[in-house]
This record gives sequence, C-alpha cells and structure tokens, in this order.
Amino acid sequence: MMELTPRPTPVPAVELVPITRDNWLEAIALKVATDQNAFTPSVAVSLAKESIRPDGPEDEYRSYGIRADGAMVGFGQLCKDFRTPGTCWIGGFLIDRRFQRRGYGRAALRALIALARREPTTTGVGLTLEPHNAVARRLYESEGFAATGDVYAGELVFELRSGGAGS
Ligand SMILES: CC(C)(COP(=O)(O)OP(=O)(O)OC[C@H]1O[C@@H](n2cnc3c(N)ncnc32)[C@H](O)[C@@H]1OP(=O)(O)O)[C@@H](O)C(=O)NCCC(=O)NCCS
Repeated sequence: MMELTPRPTPVPAVELVPITRDNWLEAIALKVATDQNAFTPSVAVSLAKESIRPDGPEDEYRSYGIRADGAMVGFGQLCKDFRTPGTCWIGGFLIDRRFQRRGYGRAALRALIALARREPTTTGVGLTLEPHNAVARRLYESEGFAATGDVYAGELVFELRSGGAGS
C-alpha cells in the first residue's frame, strides 16, 4: 500500500511589508483581544524597541506589517540578538483581533520563518512564548517549533527544529 506523508495545512496568501513612515499609523492601530494583551507587546512598544534596543545596543530589529486582502492584518519582527549569534528571533507577533482565525497567523509565521532563513548569518530560528498562551503554542508546535527548556524574561524559549516549516 502507498505510504501517505502528512501535507502542510494550506494557508491564505499574506505579504510582509516593512514598516515605514507611510504605514506606521496603520500598524500601531492593530489590536489583540483584551485577554491576549499579556501575550505580546503592543505594536507601538515593539516599534520603540527597534530604536531603543532594550536588550543590547548591538541588537538589530526589522519590523513588518502583515498584509492580506488589501488590509494590514498583523505585525511581526525579526531580531538578531548579539548574545545569540546565528539565531534569528521572531517577536512582537500578532494578528489583529478582527482578522484572527482566518489562517493569517499560520501564513505569516511561515513567511517570517522563510525571511529569517534567507538571512546569510541565520543558522536557527527562535521565539519566546508566555506560558499561558496555549493557542500560539499549538500553532508554533504544529509548524515545527519545540521548547528548549530555557526561560527568558519569564517566557518559554522555542526553537525551530530542522525539518520544520520552510525547510
Ligand atoms: C496566535 C495568533 C497570532 C494566531 O493568529 P490567527 O490568525 O488567529 O491564527 P490562524 O488563523 O492561522 O490559526 C492557527 C491555529 O490556531 C487555532 N486558533 C486560532 N485562534 C484560536 C482560538 N482563539 N482558540 C482556539 N484555537 C485557535 C486555529 O484554529 C488554527 O489551528 P488549526 O489550523 O489546527 O485549525 C493570534 O491568536 C494572536 O495574535 N494572538 C495574540 C498575540 C499572540 O499571542 N502572539 C504570539 C506571541 S508569542
């Protein structure tokens, strides 16, 4: 009998667009539900991190709006942390509450991973997760992330295993 290999979940088309002076107001208007506020910084705070670099002066952030069907539906960042060379971190990730549960989160996560992997110095992709964030945890694990056992600033550290999304 023919062996069936699991097929990746189909996702809608999304585009990552750099945040600029032309679209930053649209980005800071993005909001999650009240009970999700503890899971990720507001977009305004994430954008502030890009210039303030609270974890170290050599860190580099790049901020992206997630566009789908002609609207900005979410936000995400890639960060290179000088203390973890090789790892590209995904941060500030959110889908606006009005656009959740349409597949945009999974599609945007795959797009951010693909972008991270295109960086010449990237050998791994990581992210951190608030321990009570069960929805995001399921999403990340289903795309190939696994907990490393480390905790950073009260959040669980996850890394993409080889063979995960975008490999
Ligand atoms: C996590 C988040 C980005 C997911 O975005 P999304 O666009 O709703 O996700 P998708 O529509 O791609 O769904 C991904 C999976 O999560 C499930 N899911 C999404 N929201 C859910 C909810 N509220 N309850 C249960 N399952 C949910 C979907 O059913 C889907 O699973 P499936 O493919 O097995 O059906 C979004 O919920 C969010 O922005 N949360 C607040 C901020 C946050 O937690 N960011 C992550 C920080 S680490």
